[in-house]
Amino acid sequence: MAEKVIVITGASGGIGAVLARQLAARGDKLVLAARREAELKKVSSDCGTNALAVVADVTQRADVERVRDEALRTFGHVDVWINNAGRGIGRQVLDLTDADFDEMMAVNVKSALYGMQTIIPHFKERGEGHLINVSSALGRIPFASFRSVYCAAKAALNSLTANLRMDLRKEYPRIHVSVVMPPMVTTDFARNALHGTPMPPGGFRPGSEGQTPEQVAAAIVDLIDHPRPELYTNPGQAEMVARYYADVAAFEENMGR
Ligand SMILES: NC(=O)c1ccc[n+]([C@@H]2O[C@H](COP(=O)([O-])OP(=O)(O)OC[C@H]3O[C@@H](n4cnc5c(N)ncnc54)[C@H](OP(=O)(O)O)[C@@H]3O)[C@@H](O)[C@H]2O)c1
Repeated sequence: MAEKVIVITGASGGIGAVLARQLAARGDKLVLAARREAELKKVSSDCGTNALAVVADVTQRADVERVRDEALRTFGHVDVWINNAGRGIGRQVLDLTDADFDEMMAVNVKSALYGMQTIIPHFKERGEGHLINVSSALGRIPFASFRSVYCAAKAALNSLTANLRMDLRKEYPRIHVSVVMPPMVTTDFARNALHGTPMPPGGFRPGSEGQTPEQVAAAIVDLIDHPRPELYTNPGQAEMVARYYADVAAFEENMGR
């Protein structure tokens, strides 16, 4: 595959950092964005001379636009833009404050909206490009109700992604728009969640250990090489989602056991 220019938000740790290293190893050129400068620069230096670190808060539209501008100034174009930055929450629906709601929507939905609105005009000019939004399986199934408005935000992100894809598909068939839905992933995500991550009664269900960031990143690399609308990084998840929507009551009944 030809080397690509790839922008990754949320690249200072977790999935984004591992993805950056995997892509750098095969020769892609990277623009890496996040707020923590030291961590971001460490990832960037691990990725070699073809990586650029841009300190940015993706909840700020001007910062997201600056990421694009720096990418174009340095590499001339962008092939793939990955809205990966995100944050969880550990609070059930009835306990949510307005501030909780706004924070989850800002970091998980508006950030990606800014990314889409910022890079798609460039993709239109080129007639090609690949926009990838990192969502979550929790956007489809309420496995963890304490994630409440995080799940809602990811469901909103899934919806925005699908609508953008529908808007572009006829006129711009070479612009791909994808959503990625990982299960639980062994990063600092749980620790970084707003209000932390409560241990569910009885502990996490067996089999909910999830995936490593290496597995998720490898699945995203494959998605870049073979664009498609949706990716469950854990292949078993698609069948589970189908079962959930086929009979929500039965699925929830079994989840409670
Ligand atoms: N881990 C999981 O269980 C899991 C499961 C499904 C989906 N996901 C999704 O996968 C994506 C990556 O999560 P992760 O597991 O890698 O989490 P993580 O280890 O907590 O990393 C989150 C990344 O997002 C960045 N970030 C957070 N807020 C930001 C902001 N306002 N502006 C710029 N960057 C920001 C963080 O960098 P700074 O703090 O330096 O800004 C960090 O690089 C998220 O969208 C998450 O929702 C995770």
